[in-house]
Amino acid sequence: MKFIIINGPNLNLLGKRENDIYGDETFNDFFEKLKKKFANQEISYFQSNIEGELIDKIQEVGYNYDGIILNAAAYTHTSIGIADAVKAITTPVVEVHISNTFSREDYRHKSYISPNAKGVIVGFGLQSYELALQSFLYIAKRN
Ligand code: DQA
Repeated sequence: MKFIIINGPNLNLLGKRENDIYGDETFNDFFEKLKKKFANQEISYFQSNIEGELIDKIQEVGYNYDGIILNAAAYTHTSIGIADAVKAITTPVVEVHISNTFSREDYRHKSYISPNAKGVIVGFGLQSYELALQSFLYIAKRN
């Protein structure tokens, strides 16, 4: 099956950004391990700090991939544009967050994406991405 991980702003800094919250592993190191572990799946990765580029990517993959794992980072809490893109496409989206956004500041409790996501995985560190992938595979196996 064909999946993409889409990461929003500042997630290019994983490994050197607020390590107490986001851990010390770079996303690329994690992604290489993930690809090896799920070698039978086609998994690609896109990151941007720019809202419109994230929307372009969601539109591009949103009708022909089996699943999108989306961490829109800070745009989760602000972007109606990204929320509308998620609503517009047919590919299911699992929303993920590395940190438990509900144990953090109030402004992180609101997600514009969640209402149109298939599901949400929050707070398991980088494992949140793997759990999202496993949820897609689990559902596909049951269907
Ligand atoms: C985040 C949580 C957001 O509130 C924050 O702005 C991020 C990362 C997470 O993965 O925990 O940049 O999406």
